[in-house]
Amino acid sequence: MRAAIITASDSGYAGQRKDLSGPAIREILEQNGYKVVHTVLLPDDREMLAKEMARIADEDVAELLLTTGGTGFAPSDCMPEATGDIAERMVPGIPEAMRAYSMTITPRAMLSRAAAGIRKSTLIINLPGSPKAVRESLEYILPALEHGLEILTGKASDCARK
Ligand code: MTE
Repeated sequence: MRAAIITASDSGYAGQRKDLSGPAIREILEQNGYKVVHTVLLPDDREMLAKEMARIADEDVAELLLTTGGTGFAPSDCMPEATGDIAERMVPGIPEAMRAYSMTITPRAMLSRAAAGIRKSTLIINLPGSPKAVRESLEYILPALEHGLEILTGKASDCARK
């Protein structure tokens, strides 16, 4: 499966902070057999984020689009809103699972407003911003994603027969 990564960070975009979370996602994805075909660092700008997410889905760049950053309470945090702007169908179970698992690590996991959704044949998932949170969340959800992506892309159709 092909994967794309969007990092949202005003300070990263301004060159004031190194993006460690995008590379952490790439590393985990590659260890799990995904081909990372596109990575981009954008500011916390709802319109820019939504436009890039829609482009990745509409141009069939990747089946899986992971984002990092912008899910918290800072006034600039707008990743879930940008995701909702362009998703055709929401997938609440994935962020629910991330939060439930992450709550066993830190109660601050409840502060993540992460969302997930589907546009065309692309599954979009918001991860939190820190490399630690990214690793914890992604390693937990990855095993179940493969089946979802197979159904989304038409490679599997019947869960009951599995
Ligand atoms: N989830 C996990 N697994 N581990 C963490 O350390 N940090 C939380 C939460 N989710 C955390 C986590 C914190 S402190 C915040 S503020 C929210 O994610 C939102 O993070 P973001 O604003 O960087 O996206």
